[in-house]
Parts: sequence; structure tokens; C-alpha cells
Amino acid sequence: MVGIKDVARRAGVSIGTVSNVVNRPHVVSAVTRSRVNAVIEELGYVRDESARQLRAGSSRTLALLVLDLGNPFFVDVARGAEEAAHDAGLNMITCNSAQRVDRESSYLAMLAEQRVRGVLLSPVGPQDESLEAFGRSGIPYVLVDRKATTGECCSVSVDDVLGGALAARHLAEQGHTEIAFVNGPSVLVQCREREEGVRKALAEVPGHHLSVLEVAALDVASGRDAGARILGISPRPTAVFCANDLLALGVLQAMVGAGVRVPEDLAIVGYDDIEFASAAAVPLTSVRQPAARIGETAARLLIEETSGEGEHEHRTVVFSPELVVRDSTRTRRR
Ligand code: RIB
Repeated sequence: MVGIKDVARRAGVSIGTVSNVVNRPHVVSAVTRSRVNAVIEELGYVRDESARQLRAGSSRTLALLVLDLGNPFFVDVARGAEEAAHDAGLNMITCNSAQRVDRESSYLAMLAEQRVRGVLLSPVGPQDESLEAFGRSGIPYVLVDRKATTGECCSVSVDDVLGGALAARHLAEQGHTEIAFVNGPSVLVQCREREEGVRKALAEVPGHHLSVLEVAALDVASGRDAGARILGISPRPTAVFCANDLLALGVLQAMVGAGVRVPEDLAIVGYDDIEFASAAAVPLTSVRQPAARIGETAARLLIEETSGEGEHEHRTVVFSPELVVRDSTRTRRR
């Protein structure tokens, strides 16, 4: 590996001059700058950014560690966060824990070693030991898609209890009494809170029967499996609310495959309002989360916390979800 010493020796200048050419070119004469750059090009020297950041004590890189990069919701979160990072002249790297605790732990350990400026994190499980260990690194983090409970950090999320209630209330108002709820793993507080909202809303209007199906992963394949299970429930539900749009798209696929009409035979509601919700074969009613705003807001909080300018107080930002009604629950005129 070509080092800064090799460049200095070949160009006949000091190591400090090479460092200035790379980091503060305006302080070096044009002649020296072009001679050193020619040697950098010739030797193929690449600056050791992590070493520079360690020396400088302040990294210019934020990290986003998401629960499932296969879910467009987190892509939209990443898009918003990246915009905010770019506006602040910072870089952002995105990592995917793929809903696995071991992968989340190893990424957090790597990010601590790399001394990144801060981490935006949608945790796989409860505030578990990997988060404890990362907290000891002293690197600030902001929870995304999860509400902070102990004031140990900022967080940006949506009111998932209200989100679940909006979905259930909509189905109840349409006259559905046999309702299924396809939920993700209860280890995720978002999923527990969506179910809490569903139960609160249905308790307000007695006469409903709720069938809850829990799946291990919040993805399309699990939605397809849940759809097959719904077809076996007796009496069959006439409506289903899914904990996110990927599950809802999987349920929709299962119904189309079984010749079950949506919404006539089964109304479907999703959650997140990802782009594919409106583009589905039967456009999906969904509880919208402002994903890009969640990402942007979380990044701005982390940038403020790590700017070293003025006081920073941890804040818990909770956005309100919004029900977007489309064909998958709209009672079609017969
Ligand atoms: O984070 C758990 C779920 O909440 C994700 O699947 C995403 O869809 C969000 O709604």
C-alpha cells in the first residue's frame, strides 16, 4: 500500500506538504501542488480517511443501520437522511441488519471501530445489549422508526398506536365484523403498538371478531403465507389489516391466486404507503408514514448533536400517520 511517506520522498517534499496538498491545497503553491499531485497519480496513493478522521477527532461520515433494506420504506428513510447529510457537507453509509440481531451487533461494532460521526438506527429488537455496547463507544445515535423511552438519545417515529387505530376504524366503518390482523414479530415495538391501536379502535365499536396472525418477517413472502392461512379461517374474515405494505402485497398476491376478489370478498389495508402500494394490481389502502421526513429529521437531529456547537437536548419526534384510502377497501358500486 502506497503511503504518504512514499509520495513525500518521491516528490522531494515533507509529509506535511503532501497532507496539505490533499487536505488544504489552497495553502500550497501551484508548482508544488502539481508536482505532488503528479506523484500521487503515478504511485496511486489514496488518503486514509479513517486515520485522518481519528486524528481530526471528528468524522464526516454518518451511518444509517436499517432493519430491512428490502423494504422500500427504509429506502425512503435513507433518501431523506442522505439529503440532510449532503446539505451539511457530510457523507452517509447505509447498512442492513436484515432483521438479524447478530448482524446488527457486528455492524455496530464496525461503526464504533470506524469512529463514524453518528448512527441512525432502526433496531432489530428491544434496546438490547448490542445497543448497550455501542452506547459505551461514545458515538451518538438516533433511533429511527422507534420511540426512545429513556431519554438516552433522540428518536424519530410515527404514532403507531394511532396508525393501527386508523386502519381498524376504517374497516369497522365499512361494516366489516370479521377482521384479520397480520402482524410482524412482537419483539418490534412498532408491531406491538399497531396491534394496541387495532384493539383500542375495535373496543370502541363492539361486535367485531379479530383474528391476529403473527409472522416472523415483515416481507411479501410472509404476507403470501398469511394470506393462505386467512383462507382457512372460519368464518372467513372479510377484511385484513397488515402491519406493513409488503405483507399486504403478499396477502393480495395470495388472494388473486385463490380467485378471491379484493375488495369485494376481502378488503385489505397496509401500512407505510410505499410507492408500490398505489401501483399494486388493486391499489392498496395504506396508513402513510412520512418516511423521507423521518429520515431527514433524524439526520438533522444527529448532525445538530454532533456539531459541537451550542447545547443539544435529546428530542423525541413523533409524526402522525395518515390513512390513504384506495381501491383495496373502497366498496365498489356493484
Ligand atoms: O420497522 C418495522 C416496520 O415498520 C417496517 O417493516 C416498516 O414497514 C415500518 O412500517
